[in-house]
Amino acid sequence: MSEAREIRLGVLGCGTVGTSFCQLIADQAEVIEARTGIRLRVVSVSVRDLAKPRAGVDASLLTTDSAALVSDPGVDLVVETMGGVEGTRELVLAALRAGKPVVTANKALLAAHGPELYAAADEANVDIGFEAAVAAGIPLIGPLRESLVGEDISRVMGILNGTTNYILSQMTEKGADYADALADAQALGYAEADPTADVEGHDAAAKASILATLAFGRSVLGDDVHTEGISKITAEDIDDADRRGFVIKLLGVVERFDDGSIGARVFPAMVPKLHPLAAVRDSFNAVFVEGVGIDQVMLYGRGAGGHPTAAMVVGDTVNAAMNLVAKTHRRVVNLGPAVVRPVEDIESAFFVSLEVADEPGVLAAIANEFGEHMVSISSMEQEDLESTARLLFITHHAVESNFRATLTGIEALPAVKSVGRVLRVIGS
Ligand code: NAP
Ligand code: HSE
Repeated sequence: MSEAREIRLGVLGCGTVGTSFCQLIADQAEVIEARTGIRLRVVSVSVRDLAKPRAGVDASLLTTDSAALVSDPGVDLVVETMGGVEGTRELVLAALRAGKPVVTANKALLAAHGPELYAAADEANVDIGFEAAVAAGIPLIGPLRESLVGEDISRVMGILNGTTNYILSQMTEKGADYADALADAQALGYAEADPTADVEGHDAAAKASILATLAFGRSVLGDDVHTEGISKITAEDIDDADRRGFVIKLLGVVERFDDGSIGARVFPAMVPKLHPLAAVRDSFNAVFVEGVGIDQVMLYGRGAGGHPTAAMVVGDTVNAAMNLVAKTHRRVVNLGPAVVRPVEDIESAFFVSLEVADEPGVLAAIANEFGEHMVSISSMEQEDLESTARLLFITHHAVESNFRATLTGIEALPAVKSVGRVLRVIGS
């Protein structure tokens, strides 16, 4: 048997993911060597605070000088588990330009600067691996770049954030309070350093942009993604959905339309309880990939957490190390910027609740607004309150701008006291 080739790793950041990564390398290096002929060894780890305890990580490897770690000739490959955008971008570019492959779990970085970093990796003939950046512990990027490389993909849709799925599951199943569920998700290591990124949908939007870029070969940035989060979802919304046979999930949907334009959206949606995504609970994520040949593929796994995420970082590191030895790399195809279709021009089914005067003619006036704007009603229910009534509508698919115009018309009717929650409905 030929002698193993040693690849020396510099790790930027040693928090939830970085610590698990270092532990996994220590535990699995022998197995990896036996399977691939590559010996991985962590030689340097950068952090902000040298005094913080880091279980299973050799303290003598720690440094606060990330730039020196990247430029160290004793580091062959850089693993970025530090987070952050500016500053991190410069470090990653420096590594790539020095001919060092980079593996990153950082979706915010790729959503802002992906095309530049992919091009730099291509130029240097090294890999940039980012399996863990989109669905943490689900192998999703590998299948998209390899198994599905010849597939004409039309849509990728799924639950892309572990923190929000955990929060919604706790609220739905245990009646948990939103703030308590978020605090739990933070304690479990699921949330971003600033959890606003999770609950306001920005983390899922960053992931959706990476998926759209990969699936359609056109660069879609995080800012191109229409983004709504879950921070306004209440126990009443969850109850409304539940009584009609739905659960609420934060979804990311990227799709390519017949004219070549791309839709990219993140939003809380009502999903029928019998839909496979409704059964995805806790910090699990699941992603549907739809294409001409494959019909549908669904991938499922832990969408957050140190160990599952680090497992994907290890896989990328092994692949990048093997390609480094072979002096080759896998390209991220980029045919230029996408034409992104505005959300107003995309069709969805909608749920809306209204509080109205309980009087003759009110329902007819409201139904008239739907009809005037070409929005077809799929179902309507009335709940009687003390002196008013709640009307709950679900529509058939309608262009979003037509639905919004309907709401404007309804709001102006004298009998309408208030327009309540509006949610898109998926999969019914
Ligand atoms: P974390 O626990 O906050 O860890 C960040 C680490 O980076 C810490 O060790 C921190 O040092 C270090 N660091 C931050 N800024 C630094 C700087 N300027 N110089 C040197 N070190 C610095 O974060 P995490 O949850 O592991 O997430 C890391 C990355 O993985 C993020 O991009 C995140 O989006 C991504 N990710 C996380 C998960 C997850 O479930 N947590 C899943 C998928 C992807 P100190 O320890 O000294 O503060
Ligand atoms: N904060 C992210 C989440 C980590 O909750 O999904 C995984 O990307």
